[in-house]
Amino acid sequence: MLTIKNLHAKIQDGAEILKGINLQINPGEVHAIMGPNGAGKSTLSSVIAGKEEYEVTDGEVNFEGENIVEDAPEDRAHKGIFMSFQYPVEIPGVSVTNFIKAAINETRKAKGEEDMGAKEMLGLIRENSEKLGIKKDFLSRSLNEGFSGGEKKRNEIFQMLMLNPKLAILDETDSGLDIDALRIVADGVNSFKNQGNAVLLITHYQRLLDYIQPDFVHVLADGKIIKTGDKTLALELEEKGYDWLLN
Ligand SMILES: Nc1ncnc2c1ncn2[C@@H]1O[C@H](COP(=O)(O)OP(=O)(O)OP(=O)(O)O)[C@@H](O)[C@H]1O
Ligand SMILES: [Mg+2]
Repeated sequence: MLTIKNLHAKIQDGAEILKGINLQINPGEVHAIMGPNGAGKSTLSSVIAGKEEYEVTDGEVNFEGENIVEDAPEDRAHKGIFMSFQYPVEIPGVSVTNFIKAAINETRKAKGEEDMGAKEMLGLIRENSEKLGIKKDFLSRSLNEGFSGGEKKRNEIFQMLMLNPKLAILDETDSGLDIDALRIVADGVNSFKNQGNAVLLITHYQRLLDYIQPDFVHVLADGKIIKTGDKTLALELEEKGYDWLLN
């Protein structure tokens, strides 16, 4: 589904941040990326999603067999790449529901499809908000305005379930979540997961990986993947930190 080869990227007019990333994600897989602060984890997810402040200087990002490096972020979203943000934006005056309706219909339009019918949309909203324990009044609030950390994260997972992407990239979904919210988010991700889609999860905490079982755990440090293992690697990192991997 996603094949990244020798990816180098820098900030526009700035230093190189990604220094040769190789990563292969197949349908049905969950990959976790861990690593020290400033390693380049958020940069990697932004580069996959196509954020314009980064420039790819070498390598390829192939999504379903196509190099997407030149694609605009919205084209990537339409192709089925979803990314949550470590620091989500506030959109005053646009409700949670209207934002997601617009996003869904934009994707359909890009594929030459009609808008989703009101009844189907309502059903989907109901199903997914119930799954995440989101209350009705929350759905009519302005997007991210005054949202608590946990509410922001819940909303991101809601967006993911609604948009039903092929590849979901979640950046630090556990930051600021209390135990119950963490559980709900994890359940949301687990109910999203199927044999046709994939998840790339960036996290600092092994705890989240107790609930969302990753197939692979990668350690990103100084712009490179320095170790890949299975979920036991996360336990090892929890115990030993990162020092033993850095020289
Ligand atoms: N837009 C930017 N402008 C300047 N520096 C940037 C920018 N984006 C990233 N960097 C720098 O690139 C490095 C990697 O940042 P990045 O946010 O990818 O790290 P991270 O692994 O996600 O860290 P954390 O665990 O703290 O979230 C850092 O040194 C950061 O300051
Ligand atoms: Mg980050």
